[in-house]
Amino acid sequence: MRDKKVAFIGSGNMAEALIKGILGSGLLPAASITACDTDPARLDYFEKTYGVKTSGDNEEGARSCDVLLLSVKPRDMDRVLTGIRGSVKASHLVISIAAGVTLRRLESALGEGVPVVRAMPNGPALVGRGMTAVSRGASVADSDMETARELLGAAGEVMEMGEELMDAVTAVSGSGPAYFFYLVEALAAAARAAGFSGEDADRLAAVTAVGSMRWLDETGSSPAGLRDKVTSPGGTTEAAIRTLEEKGFRELIADAVDAAIRRSRELGGD
Ligand SMILES: NC(=O)c1ccc[n+]([C@@H]2O[C@H](COP(=O)([O-])OP(=O)(O)OC[C@H]3O[C@@H](n4cnc5c(N)ncnc54)[C@H](OP(=O)(O)O)[C@@H]3O)[C@@H](O)[C@H]2O)c1
Repeated sequence: MRDKKVAFIGSGNMAEALIKGILGSGLLPAASITACDTDPARLDYFEKTYGVKTSGDNEEGARSCDVLLLSVKPRDMDRVLTGIRGSVKASHLVISIAAGVTLRRLESALGEGVPVVRAMPNGPALVGRGMTAVSRGASVADSDMETARELLGAAGEVMEMGEELMDAVTAVSGSGPAYFFYLVEALAAAARAAGFSGEDADRLAAVTAVGSMRWLDETGSSPAGLRDKVTSPGGTTEAAIRTLEEKGFRELIADAVDAAIRRSRELGGD
């Protein structure tokens, strides 16, 4: 990996999260990374903050690298693909993190034989704790996949799967952070109703959420195992969980994930 040159087309939030992770972990030196963007202020920021090379010319970025990371918004992808098509060769590895942009669309725009990996990161990648799903295109070798895993792994965990599961990934890990935030909001609202000030209610709910997730993460226990541990027979937690079960909490989450899968399919539709 250390002899590879990587260029990011689109130097926004996700590119920044990845560059920060790549530099922080020592995977690549700053001199091996080029950040491309249409906004000169963003390029200036990347150069000053991370010491990476920058370019306002996507084609130059593509020509100067081995791995091309497409990190523009989905709506800008067609324009970017048209612009770089002539500069991308079968010796490149192209990784797209744009939500909903399919391998078929990427491969047909870039030409036959170009190895393309489609990735779906999520918001926690911005703090180095992302969950990124990856699907390989037709021309991707195992060594390309290893490179993709190393790069995307700089912002959290990486899991490979067939592209047919990308809508489900979008619904579970992509939209998932919002479900947890919603739960924290609901717990804070319940705390307010129980008599706490807004500020105290927000802290009680947020610190409990973060602490619980760290507990899960650091012990490697199952959520069911930890829930069991904190639920004494006949106690308060049992009373609360019984209410959640009776009111169909699990079914509600399943319905929410189904709705997100359907919406992801509608939005993808190419
Ligand atoms: N953020 C997330 O949590 C998340 C999660 C999953 C997937 N993703 C995917 O990650 C991708 C990037 O998201 P983001 O949040 O990092 O977006 P972002 O902050 O808007 O970054 C995109 C950058 O690309 C620039 N850009 C636009 N057109 C360009 C062009 N033709 N050539 C070069 N640069 C161009 C944009 O400049 P302007 O602002 O001037 O247009 C912007 O600086 C998206 O496709 C998104 O679907 C993001």
